[in-house]
Amino acid sequence: MLDTIMKTKIFAWVDRRTGAEAIIKSQLTEYPAPKNLNWMWVFGAIAMLVLVLQIVTGIFLAMYYKPSAMETLGGFSVAFDSVERIMRDVNFGWLIRYTHAVGASMFFLVVYIHMGRGMYYGSYKEPRELIWIMGVVILLIMQGAAFFGYLLPWGQMSFWGATVITNLFGAIPVLGDLIGQLLMGGFSVGDPTLNRFFSLHYLFPLLLVAIVAGHIHALHTVHSNNPDGIDLDQSDPNNVVMFHPYVTMKDAFAVSLFMILYMYIVFFNPQMGGYFIEVDNYVPANNLQTPAHIAPVWYLTPWYTILRSFEVKLVGIAAMGASLAILFVYPFLDRSKVRSARYRPMYRSMVILFFIDVIVLGYCGHTATTETLKVVGQIATFYYFFFFIALLFLPRFEKTKPLPEGV
Ligand code: HEM
Repeated sequence: MLDTIMKTKIFAWVDRRTGAEAIIKSQLTEYPAPKNLNWMWVFGAIAMLVLVLQIVTGIFLAMYYKPSAMETLGGFSVAFDSVERIMRDVNFGWLIRYTHAVGASMFFLVVYIHMGRGMYYGSYKEPRELIWIMGVVILLIMQGAAFFGYLLPWGQMSFWGATVITNLFGAIPVLGDLIGQLLMGGFSVGDPTLNRFFSLHYLFPLLLVAIVAGHIHALHTVHSNNPDGIDLDQSDPNNVVMFHPYVTMKDAFAVSLFMILYMYIVFFNPQMGGYFIEVDNYVPANNLQTPAHIAPVWYLTPWYTILRSFEVKLVGIAAMGASLAILFVYPFLDRSKVRSARYRPMYRSMVILFFIDVIVLGYCGHTATTETLKVVGQIATFYYFFFFIALLFLPRFEKTKPLPEGV
C-alpha cells in the first residue's frame, strides 16, 4: 500500500518539498533490522499502538467528561455522574471508557515487558544508554498520567488514593507542604485538584508522544540491539533484514494477537477481579468515609511497597524516589562488556530474580499489610536495591561465555 501511495503524483509533489521518500526508506521500509530479533522485540510497536489508542479514546472521553466535584441534584458529583453517563447514555461510551481504563493496565503491562526485555538482553548498555534513559522518563510520565487519570471518575479510590499520595509531600522538609498545596490547589483534595489533574492528565500523553519520537530517533541512530547482544555490521545482508516486510509483518501479527487479548478483557472482564478497575471506585467519593483498604492500581504497587517498607515516612519517600532514580543510572552501574544475559550466567540469575522480586513487591503493595507481608516487602525492597548496587562489582566475579561471531 505504501508503495502505491509513494507512486502517486501528490506524493511526488510532497517529496520534492520535504524529501519524504528518503526519510520513509531510511527510517521504515529499508531500515535494517537484525535478523535474529525474537518475539520480545515486538513490544515497542505494541506500546506505540496502545499509546495512540489511549490518546484517541481519551479525546472522545473528554468530549463528555466534566471535571467538577460540585454536587448534582441527584447528590453525586458532576464528574462521577458524567462518567456514569458515558457508560450508560453515550453511544458506545462503555466501549470507549473500558478501552481507555483497561488500556492503562495493558500499556503498563506491555511497557514493563519491553523494559524487562531491555534489561535481559542488555539493550540499555553502550551505545543505547540514552534510549534507556528516555525510556525511564517515559515511565515516569506514564506513572504521572495514570495517577492523574485515576482521580477523574471521582470515586472512593480516586479520592483516597490522591489524598494518600498528595499528603506524602507533607513529610518532605521545608517545601513539602507547599508542593502538596500546589498540587491540590488547596489544603485537601477537592474541586481544584480535579481540574488540575484533568489538565495534566491531558497534557502528559502528548509529552509522551514527543519523547517516544526521541526514543525512536535515538534507536535509529545506533540501531537495535539483538538477543545475542553483539555488534553487527548493518550493511551486511547476512546480519540484517529489511524492516519492511519482515519486521512490519511480524509486528502486525503480534499486534493482532495482542488486540484479541486486549479486546477480550474489554468485552468480557474489564475489571479483571479489581486489578484493572477497582470495584470501590464505583462508589462516589466521600471525604467522611475512608475505605477499609487503600492501594494504588497494580502497576504502581511495587513502588508503593518500597514506600511502605520503612517506619519513617520521609525515608520511605526517599527510598521510593531512589528506586525510580536508580533506573536512570542503571546503564552506568553495569560495566560488563558483554550485553546479553545469554552469555552472562550470574547476571542472568540476578536479573530473573529481579523480575520475580518486582512481582513480589507488586503483590505486597496490592494486599492489606500483615506483619509477614511487611517483612516480605522489606526483603524484596532490599533485593531491589541490592541488584543495582551489586552490578558495580559483578564484572570482577562473573565469568562470561564466549560470544558468537555473527548471527
Ligand atoms: C510509550 C512507551 C514506549 C514506546 C512506545 C516505546 C517504543 C519503542 C520501540 C518501537 C522500540 C523499537 C522496537 C523494540 O525494540 O521493541 C523501542 C526500543 C527500546 N526501548 Fe522503548 N518504548 C517505550 C518505553 C520504554 C521504556 C519505559 C524503556 C525503558 C526504561 C524503553 C527502553 C527501550 C530500549 C532500551 C530500546 C532498544 C531496544 C533494543 O535495541 O534492543 N522503552 N522502544
